[in-house]
Amino acid sequence: MPTPFNFDPTSVAFAADPYAVYAKMRGQDAPYYWPDLDMVLLSRYADVSQIAVNPAMVRSLKGVRSDAELEAEKRKSGFADMPFHERFVQTNLLDTDGAEHERLRRLIFGAFTGRGVKHLEIFIQAYVDALLSKAPHGLSFDFIELVAAPLPGLVIGRFLGIPERDAPQLRQWSEDIVSYYDVDKTPEKKAKAEAAVKAFHDYLIDLKRKRRASPKDDLISQMIMQEADGLFRKDELIATCMLILMAGHGSTIDVIGTGLNSLLNHPDALQDLRDDRSVLPTAIEEMFRYEPPLPFFHRHATEAVTLRGHKFPAGTTFGLLYSAANRDGNVFPDADAFNIRRAPNRHMAFGRGAHLCLGNQLAKLNMRILFNALCSRFHVMEFAGNVTFKPGLSTRGLKKLPLIVK
Ligand code: HEM
Repeated sequence: MPTPFNFDPTSVAFAADPYAVYAKMRGQDAPYYWPDLDMVLLSRYADVSQIAVNPAMVRSLKGVRSDAELEAEKRKSGFADMPFHERFVQTNLLDTDGAEHERLRRLIFGAFTGRGVKHLEIFIQAYVDALLSKAPHGLSFDFIELVAAPLPGLVIGRFLGIPERDAPQLRQWSEDIVSYYDVDKTPEKKAKAEAAVKAFHDYLIDLKRKRRASPKDDLISQMIMQEADGLFRKDELIATCMLILMAGHGSTIDVIGTGLNSLLNHPDALQDLRDDRSVLPTAIEEMFRYEPPLPFFHRHATEAVTLRGHKFPAGTTFGLLYSAANRDGNVFPDADAFNIRRAPNRHMAFGRGAHLCLGNQLAKLNMRILFNALCSRFHVMEFAGNVTFKPGLSTRGLKKLPLIVK
């Protein structure tokens, strides 16, 4: 297949505006073949949705390829020779399919529903109030460092059962693990990722021992009981805890930052939200649509599939560009406009199909509480400097957000 333009998601230009590149991709007749990762990138909403909901399009190649082929692919993609990572990060419910995936997902599903996360509301409010009270009035500070970064560790920690004093450590572990998923894999990143998994593993083993002796009202205590009943098998409990941290930590930091950035870039929207707080739920959905923090996931085709008349054989790997789908003008009128009253807003920031984000209710709860508090507490919120995005394809977030509040 010809490569009509050079796609470089590590470039500064891409970080500054990936949406211009995605618009180009969506405009092409055939889905874009990306030779670097031997992958077909899907950018139109209908294409992404079709593949995401198709059970024959899987996350894991287990059962599709022989063990030797799997090992060879692991080597090629840089995921071999990292024993802890292979056991606890590469093997989890996000990377299983079919009945195995359903079994693991069902075990923790209840904890993630709107009702399941409701008890966290009071804690999130307290964390938000404490963090915002540290913001210096009238002086410049980095909103990412002071507010966005510490919040998810506290919330996920409380949810899982990790004591507050240990929450700051979660950030480093999750950053080190997640950064090895992006396209620019270096030996340093690999070593850091493996070390972080080992350290978090050791921490969780210790926490498990403590909670077994004295259970609490938290997810890890629930999972320990499920493990004792034989519902979680070897390594699955630890792998599930790691997935929750990896999936939920950096993504929440990033969307808090980009959400505020979007509002500050659209003062009328910010004023609208200040004046009418009932807009908050649709405003939060729009923040997720406009700048999804996890823009890119993959699926492997276990059977041939046709997209808009283009045939792809079994064995094709698809890249699902959820963020490109979210700007598809065929689904979202005036798709590049940030419209906090957008309805309907069936964005794909949380994916679609069997792997739909388990943490979506928790993520939205965090955002609602935080943005409500920001609007109530500060009558002025202004940029105090330039905002730059981190480079990369798998995540989208700000390096810094210099802010002044009054
Ligand atoms: C903050 C914004 C978040 C976004 C945008 C997001 C996005 C996503 C997406 C797109 C997927 C599907 C991956 C795929 O299609 O292959 C996913 C899966 C998942 N997310 Fe999230 N996520 C967020 C927050 C969270 C949080 C806070 C948690 C947990 C505390 C979490 C836990 C999970 C889990 C466990 C899965 C795997 C579900 C499965 O495989 O069945 N996420 N997330």
